[in-house]
Amino acid sequence: MQLKNFLAATAAFVAVSQPAFAYHVKRARTTSLLGSFPGQGALPTVAQVQSTSSGNDSLPLENIQGDILVGMKKQKEQFVFFHINNATTFKKVLKTYAPANITSIQTLLSAPSAQPLAFVNLAFSQSGATALGVTDDLGDSFFSAGQFADASALGDDTSNWDSTFTGTDVHGVFLIGSDETSFVEQYQSDLEAKLGDAWTVSLTIASAARPGDEAGHEHFGYLDGISNPTITGFGTALPGQSVVDPGIILAGRTGDTVSRPSWALDGSFLVFRKLKQLVPEFNKWTLANAIQNASGNLTAQEGADLLGSRMFGRWKSGAPIDLSPDVDDASLGTDPQRNNNFNYTHAGSDITSDESRCPFSAHIRKTNPRDLESVIGHANHAIRAGTPYGPELTDDESSSGTTSTDRGLAFVEYQSNIGNGFRTQQEVWANAAAFPFGKTESIGLDPVIGQGDRTTYGLNAQNVTESYSVPSFVISNGGEYFFSPSITALVETFAA
Ligand code: HEM
Ligand SMILES: *[C@@H]1O[C@H](CO)[C@@H](O)[C@H](O)[C@H]1NC(C)=O
Ligand SMILES: *[C@@H]1O[C@H](CO)[C@@H](O)[C@H](O)[C@H]1NC(C)=O
Ligand SMILES: *[C@@H]1O[C@H](CO)[C@@H](O)[C@H](O)[C@H]1NC(C)=O
Ligand SMILES: *[C@@H]1O[C@H](CO)[C@@H](O)[C@H](O)[C@H]1NC(C)=O
Ligand SMILES: *[C@@H]1O[C@H](CO)[C@@H](O)[C@H](O)[C@H]1NC(C)=O
Repeated sequence: MQLKNFLAATAAFVAVSQPAFAYHVKRARTTSLLGSFPGQGALPTVAQVQSTSSGNDSLPLENIQGDILVGMKKQKEQFVFFHINNATTFKKVLKTYAPANITSIQTLLSAPSAQPLAFVNLAFSQSGATALGVTDDLGDSFFSAGQFADASALGDDTSNWDSTFTGTDVHGVFLIGSDETSFVEQYQSDLEAKLGDAWTVSLTIASAARPGDEAGHEHFGYLDGISNPTITGFGTALPGQSVVDPGIILAGRTGDTVSRPSWALDGSFLVFRKLKQLVPEFNKWTLANAIQNASGNLTAQEGADLLGSRMFGRWKSGAPIDLSPDVDDASLGTDPQRNNNFNYTHAGSDITSDESRCPFSAHIRKTNPRDLESVIGHANHAIRAGTPYGPELTDDESSSGTTSTDRGLAFVEYQSNIGNGFRTQQEVWANAAAFPFGKTESIGLDPVIGQGDRTTYGLNAQNVTESYSVPSFVISNGGEYFFSPSITALVETFAA
């Protein structure tokens, strides 16, 4: 080899490999970009999925956007809502960006050393799909009309909506997640540099697992992300965990009964809601309305904690009140082998009238009536994947009982059918005083998320007919309905 060629080849080698070198040596991951939180089971490995998924529903792990199947395991997550100004340029960037950087479930299940610094997922609203010339009917009328059109049916007061969401201007959202905020910001800056004037970022929501011992808990203090369904073939279910056909979550798979374009296969509808939480107000109200146990020996704070547990159906530790109705049991709450192994049925107890352990209106019983699964079926499950946003409570807020900083839940839920999943849970169940059993006068709304006349019953185990008019501690700031396509659909359909 001539010296000139050798030098040229060496220069090329250095030019090409230096960033990779720097990346791997200085920045190689030794820990996963996802978090590991109390009470949640571990994700399966790629090998486990390969040995459990089979036949026509063998999951193409490298083609499914990762967030759809990981649940609430995000440490730092940024939601970047955007509007497309120049479809041609947007498509051009997406065509090379998506294969390199849109993170599959395969990547998220792989060893940390094989993971990027941050994961990136991308979903489009109907108006975004239309802006990119993707006009096939995805077969979901809620998606095609957008969430703003659905606001009043959901019971939202649109005067509380963030103006970003009032209309159909949000075309899509990038979800960027990592263990470190600096990596998330680096990826967002890179997208801004690549897309330039081709887009406008309309809103960024930075969310993160809460610090220290509160990691995995939402802002009211309750451990979250414990109960998510899994899909057939995605590893082994935990005791009591619901296993649903892949098509309940992934479009085009067994269990999805709607006809959709072929490119929709392995995509999922992403429901996003910015849900503001009034934490000091919740604390103040539960204390003011503290209840008693049968022995009458609870302190006011213990009575407030008991009331809170009956609103959620779980104690703050995650322990289900159906299994531990009188006291919190942290070892139960954090044990994934036990914390879902219940279904509200007990020997000698009538599920249509017995609320001694768990009210019918409790948040987790309204949104997943486990005792009625044999009647209702599995179609209303969805995978929750949100992350808390906003700072911890300040001393001032605690002492005044008044929220002065915006905090809440960046709520995300994935399903193949918005009407069956999110909308059934919110509108048909949580907002419906008569659900279940048709007893309007004795069940009431989900005291956490129900919208409408927020009268509810069953919160006081000593007198389940006592009615409560519960203030709204969760305020919807709006959101949008998105579709999170497979990675090949991003490249071949959205970037085409
Ligand atoms: C800020 C608002 C919300 C808070 C603070 C909240 C909190 C919680 C908590 C603490 C749990 C128990 C942990 C678990 O079982 O994984 C839970 C479970 C659940 N939530 Fe929410 N949630 C909120 C909004 C929603 C919304 C809007 C929906 C759907 C419309 C929803 C649907 C569910 C479902 C399906 C479960 C699991 C029930 C089960 O399988 O037993 N949540 N939530
Ligand atoms: C979109 O960007 C391309 C490349 O910069 C440019 O040629 C084109 O005129 C732009 N289109 C519109 C509608 O602005
Ligand atoms: C993938 O993302 C990284 C980090 O933001 C960026 O440096 C790189 O250019 C992206 N790759 C492509 C092909 O767009
Ligand atoms: C897969 O095969 C089963 C059994 O033959 C069938 O019921 C199901 O509809 C098929 N699913 C798809 C997505 O073709
Ligand atoms: C509840 O779980 C028990 C124990 O696993 C089971 O025997 C029973 O059939 C379940 N009941 C319902 C209604 O799902
Ligand atoms: C239970 O509550 C109802 C409705 O508030 C009330 O009428 C009734 O007197 C209460 N019963 C007892 C035993 O306190």
